[in-house]
Amino acid sequence: MTFEASLQHARVLVEDDLARRLAASTDIPPRLLQAMQEAVLGGGKRFRPFLVLQSAGLFGVDDATALTVAASLEAIHCYSLVHDDLPAMDNDAMRRGRPTVWKAYDEWTAILAGDALLTIAFQWLAEPNSGLSPAVANRMVAELARAAGPAGMVGGQMIDLEANKRDEPARPTLLHIKRLQELKTGALIRFACRTGPLLGGSSAGDIDALTIYGEALGLAFQISDDLLDATGNAAEVGKAVAKDEAAGKATLVSLRGLAGARAVLAETQARARNALKPYGARAAALLDAVDFMGQRKS
Ligand code: IPE
Ligand code: IPE
Ligand code: MG
Ligand code: MG
Ligand code: MG
Repeated sequence: MTFEASLQHARVLVEDDLARRLAASTDIPPRLLQAMQEAVLGGGKRFRPFLVLQSAGLFGVDDATALTVAASLEAIHCYSLVHDDLPAMDNDAMRRGRPTVWKAYDEWTAILAGDALLTIAFQWLAEPNSGLSPAVANRMVAELARAAGPAGMVGGQMIDLEANKRDEPARPTLLHIKRLQELKTGALIRFACRTGPLLGGSSAGDIDALTIYGEALGLAFQISDDLLDATGNAAEVGKAVAKDEAAGKATLVSLRGLAGARAVLAETQARARNALKPYGARAAALLDAVDFMGQRKS
């Protein structure tokens, strides 16, 4: 299967699953439900669900089991975007080629839609009909909470905004930027990559290998996002570009320039590929995902 076909496979499965889950939630106030649907179903690459399904497949876990985790993770990712776009944060008007949720509705609805998606993700994982055994569900809840929370994505967003909202930002170091990116973007991608061996009850060696892969891929993903901001075309990317420099964001592009950022990206890609060596051709789709970091246009 080509990489595009594998991504499409994940997209169809997770969008169908998310649409069904939200449509079944008849007890949600209509305006809130509509804003949640706008946030979750309005486009997106579905790269994290793809990683969950591929990592699961590598360890013999079927799509149906992995899908609960993929849908929960995507809900949290979508919440992070809704809040990231708010005026108090990055103040963005376009996302996935459409108006951001706060633009389409208003700020308070966007804040509540984000809160709702964050919470419902854990409900889906913890419900008795999740399709996961209680022990596995418990592990997934704990891992996802850690990845999304203050020592994960939220912590990374804090460091990201502190660097450009404070009056006199310190000149960031490479270490500072890597730490920021590991948290704000890396933590959820790392979680996605680890789900296969965790769901499959695999060995510590497999968990370690997929963790190293996920950490490198997460860093690569944010470097490529920053490169797209610096060099991409808004219509193709689906969101405003050339904003990071103007906002004084700490990125590898601001520290090292385009060529420097591309060099770190290449090193990071090599680390990700290396972690998959033990799996040979069975990890082809996860290897394609590494190449995608150097090629993506959105
Ligand atoms: C954008 O994530 C935010 C970052 C973490 C860089 P994606 O590029 O995965 O966004 P969608 O889901 O495809 O819109
Ligand atoms: C956002 O990083 C990461 C999140 C946790 C949402 P960015 O602020 O660079 O993401 P975009 O460029 O708005 O998608
Ligand atoms: Mg941001
Ligand atoms: Mg942003
Ligand atoms: Mg960005």
